[in-house]
Amino acid sequence: MTILTDSPFHKPQLQLDDRLKKRAVEKILTKLCLTHENICKIREVFESEMRLGLARNSYRPSSLQMENTFIPKLPDGTENGDFLALDLGGTNFRVILLSLRPGQEGDFLVKYYSVPEHLRMGPGEQLFDFLASCIYHFLESNELLGNYYPLGFTFSFPMIQKALDVGILLTWTKSFNCSGVVGQDAVKMLNDAIARKGNMNVDVVAVLNDTTGTLVKGAYTDPDTAIGLILGTGSNACYLERIDRIEKWDKPGVTEVIIDIEWGAFGDNGVLDFIKTDFDRAVDCNSLLVHSFTFEKLFAGKYMGELVRHILIKLCREGLLFGGAPSETLLTFGSFTTADVSGIEGDNDDGENTRKILRRLGFAYPYTDDMLIVRHVCAVVTVRGARVVATCLSSLLDRMVKPEVTIAVDGSLFKHHPKFQRLMNDFIGDMLPEQKFKLMLAEDGSGKGAGLVAAVALKLREDSKKLIAKDNL
Ligand code: BGC
Repeated sequence: MTILTDSPFHKPQLQLDDRLKKRAVEKILTKLCLTHENICKIREVFESEMRLGLARNSYRPSSLQMENTFIPKLPDGTENGDFLALDLGGTNFRVILLSLRPGQEGDFLVKYYSVPEHLRMGPGEQLFDFLASCIYHFLESNELLGNYYPLGFTFSFPMIQKALDVGILLTWTKSFNCSGVVGQDAVKMLNDAIARKGNMNVDVVAVLNDTTGTLVKGAYTDPDTAIGLILGTGSNACYLERIDRIEKWDKPGVTEVIIDIEWGAFGDNGVLDFIKTDFDRAVDCNSLLVHSFTFEKLFAGKYMGELVRHILIKLCREGLLFGGAPSETLLTFGSFTTADVSGIEGDNDDGENTRKILRRLGFAYPYTDDMLIVRHVCAVVTVRGARVVATCLSSLLDRMVKPEVTIAVDGSLFKHHPKFQRLMNDFIGDMLPEQKFKLMLAEDGSGKGAGLVAAVALKLREDSKKLIAKDNL
């Protein structure tokens, strides 16, 4: 593997006149700048964790769940009908009506409902009752209450899928921690809540992860799509795997299936400890679900700002930043966000954004050195994030051996971070110079994708009914 990406864009350089200070800052950041050996090792452990995750009898558990999504078939453009889609994973819940007509883009009606913290952290039944009332409100306000709709449910948390319409929650992530849901089937909980609410003719035909929705949505417009990637509040990827390479399930009659990797948890068993820094440990300690989601916490939207904040505090405490005096705001959890990292990374030469953000943090008159250091920290954290994601994507591309692969991507980090996409693209290009690939924004994969998966689920049901009828002849 040759790493050619040696420009300051790919390897951020700190431009300080004060040589001693420069060296001291760089020393603190050393471990965040991944070496060639680090990258090779990440790739190696990712590949062995994937193999372990797919094995029938593994000698130890893998940190990669490699979950069956039960989707063996992608939409082919002939889908027809009206489908409801739900999207739950962040602080906004969405209800969507997707009208699919063969050969057309499809119409889309959507409503956002904010999920307040007490519902994200309270009893699970209340959360599902809330979801059911949102569906009811959506149907009522669009005068659709009497109609029948098949529904696809994007539930963006690690699930054990027993069927296309059975998803047992393994653990909450991101900003959710409701009681009474782990170990339960999210579809059953939703169906029960819909029944409690009453007066709705809705059938939950599929439950899926947002990465799956994104892959499926991507494949609808670009048939080369074989990977779905979310770079948002959390992170995860899924890909099309050949069935003969999956030891752990027998699946006669199917050639490929989408595997939900659940790579957010990559490293939870310690295999990534060699790149973990004290800053990563601090982010983890202050997170909602401690000692979990190692990989996601290295770069995802919910954590990247926090990571930078911890580094800035350390630099302050070492007397290298802001005159050695951190402000109250800087010391406050959540005061520096991933949107701030994006703002600083996309700043102009005058440093307008950086100045504004620093003012908000309580540093009204930062020195030029302070501005340069803050910008450098953001760049270093960004590059590390893009590197680790690109490394795992390269492994996937290599594994699939397809001449051309489109990676469908969705999520706020991908959409709003000014450098992440180009960095990933360049790093993958360097690692796999022969591979043709494309990163494609599949906007609203988790919404439209859920509708499309519902359509695929209905087709599969029809196919199996036809088979049974044939067998009975
Ligand atoms: C969840 C995944 C999800 C990802 C992106 C992670 O925290 O475990 O299931 O795909 O976030 O939303």
